[in-house]
Amino acid sequence: MGEAVKDGREEVIQAWYMDDSQDDQRLPHHKDPKEFISLDKLAELGVLSWRLDADNYETDEELKKIRESRGYSYMDFCEVCPEKLPNYEEKVKSFFEEHLHTDEEIRYCVAGSGYFDVRDRNEAWIRVWVKKGGMIVLPAGIYHRFTVDSDNYIKAMRLFVGEPVWTPYNRPHDHLPARKEYVDNFVKKAINASA
Ligand code: LAC
Ligand code: NI
Repeated sequence: MGEAVKDGREEVIQAWYMDDSQDDQRLPHHKDPKEFISLDKLAELGVLSWRLDADNYETDEELKKIRESRGYSYMDFCEVCPEKLPNYEEKVKSFFEEHLHTDEEIRYCVAGSGYFDVRDRNEAWIRVWVKKGGMIVLPAGIYHRFTVDSDNYIKAMRLFVGEPVWTPYNRPHDHLPARKEYVDNFVKKAINASA
């Protein structure tokens, strides 16, 4: 992986283009050869990331700063594993339906790991592997999906601005203002900039 490990974030968050196989969603689904994408490139799609101290989230000043500056007033925890989530297999399948939200999806992995898949500008799937200490923000309006990996365990802090709205809008929901804004800000702008 050599090249990918340039800043601390990439030890707990890695992103790569997915293969096209229909195998188990919990497998890594690397292309052959592997095709990693940097976290800076991910940021160009509006996907933000941090590495934080997951053993001390209660007193972490860095987390506090992020929450203050981005207005993340709400916080709870979500544990995804067969023992704690009723209808586990069903839920795992439903999280993997491609969808969007009208607000950011903010997840801070404090234990375990999981895959957040996002669409790039050309509709290719990018798999974002978030492990303990990794925090990501998926922008409002980005098409994405989630799955546990083959360890079947993640404990994530969920953050939100104000009262949380978790509603998933399964694809297609292109008429939603949040989708239009996402396309204007992160798809069209980038295309114009490279033209
Ligand atoms: C969520 C994940 C499943 O919406 O994307 O919580
Ligand atoms: Ni979601």
